[in-house]
Amino acid sequence: MDIPYKSWYAAIPQRHSQRTYNGKRLSNESLDHLENLCEKFRPFAGVRAVIIRETPQGVYKGIVGSYGEIKNAPHLAAFIGDMSVPVVQEAAGYLGQGVILEATSMGLQTCWIGGFFRPETLEHTLGLGEKERILSITPIGYGVSKKSTRDKVMSFAIRSHRRKPLEKMVTNSSKELTPWSRTALEAARLAPSAANRQPWRFTVKTDSIIVSTGKVRGVSRISRRLDCESERTLDQDIRQLKSIGREIISWAEREGTAISKFTSPNVPIYLISEGPNHIAAQIGMMKFNEYSVLKGIAAIREEFKHHYNISVTDSDSAVLITGSPSDSSDDVYMSVLADSLKMRAYHLHVDQKLRLRLPLVQAIPNTIALQMAAYHTVLRYNPDKESFKLPHAEAFKIY
Ligand SMILES: Cc1cc2nc3c(=O)[nH]c(=O)nc-3n(C[C@H](O)[C@H](O)[C@H](O)COP(=O)(O)O)c2cc1C
Repeated sequence: MDIPYKSWYAAIPQRHSQRTYNGKRLSNESLDHLENLCEKFRPFAGVRAVIIRETPQGVYKGIVGSYGEIKNAPHLAAFIGDMSVPVVQEAAGYLGQGVILEATSMGLQTCWIGGFFRPETLEHTLGLGEKERILSITPIGYGVSKKSTRDKVMSFAIRSHRRKPLEKMVTNSSKELTPWSRTALEAARLAPSAANRQPWRFTVKTDSIIVSTGKVRGVSRISRRLDCESERTLDQDIRQLKSIGREIISWAEREGTAISKFTSPNVPIYLISEGPNHIAAQIGMMKFNEYSVLKGIAAIREEFKHHYNISVTDSDSAVLITGSPSDSSDDVYMSVLADSLKMRAYHLHVDQKLRLRLPLVQAIPNTIALQMAAYHTVLRYNPDKESFKLPHAEAFKIY
């Protein structure tokens, strides 16, 4: 579809979030027009928008006077994403804003609703694919002509009309803006964001602008990647984690056995990690020490770079525990461990086939793999110690 740049650009300053509507329905032609747009406007694979002609009872969760309370909106649009697509949040944000700008240019009002709605009230109508989720919705209709006190209070509370100055959003603000980049940035600055947190940061290049998310606080349940990271990803990952228990155990068993081949009695094993994976390293360390075949030491990745303080000797073992997918800095780290420090080095990172995206969640399979590693190390040197049981589900409740 050719994007109607002119009318969408003109709609940008016209658009604002409307939470109280007058209940008047759109004409069938207008609804058909929006439906037609949703069918044609497919800027990215894995996301789609659907118009719901009748607002279902109870779809909006906002309690009276709260963020997300929507009144009397006759219709809505749902923005749906396939969660196996890595950039699904960004793609849904782009798609949704296109639909919203089209509605604005038709004289209609809207309001992105990212967290405060009940997807279950829509799912049966939408026929979602296995990996699809409703990422956000927007009411569509005509706003009450005079802004209600409630809307005024909400707008005031979240200072919805305010935007940060461009200098605060442009990371290389010393660079002089060209007319095109200023025009683009001024338009981007007016974009909506959950609780108006304006998470975007722009890096201006000669003929492009890179958009990224800054570290901002806001409504914890609404993804920052929708309006330009991802609490929803956490929900997804936890659901995935629960559904693939057996696969995780088989993967951890394989990894643990492989790591145990890098161990020798009384030669320390360094478990090097950062971020959430440090929990995995700490629990791995605890297990190696509990079995006391060899000493387990949990080291922070950055700290281990000063290994001369730690007195590493050749052929000590090291396990680098990272998030997945791993990157080139992990490869460099591994080659330093193996080639420069002459350690027996193993890189532990979750198999991407397990489809867990956040390091916070990946730390759990990594923890199990390290427990398996400690157990199989015991068995290699003390085959009679099979009574040192494999980790089991009950034991994991404490984590
Ligand atoms: C991804 C996203 C999620 C949002 N979720 C909600 C929501 O759940 N409830 C709500 O009342 N407003 C929500 N908003 C609307 C913002 O509060 C609003 O866009 C912001 O305050 C700026 O105001 P404006 O849209 O009038 O420019 C959301 C906006 C975005 C972009």
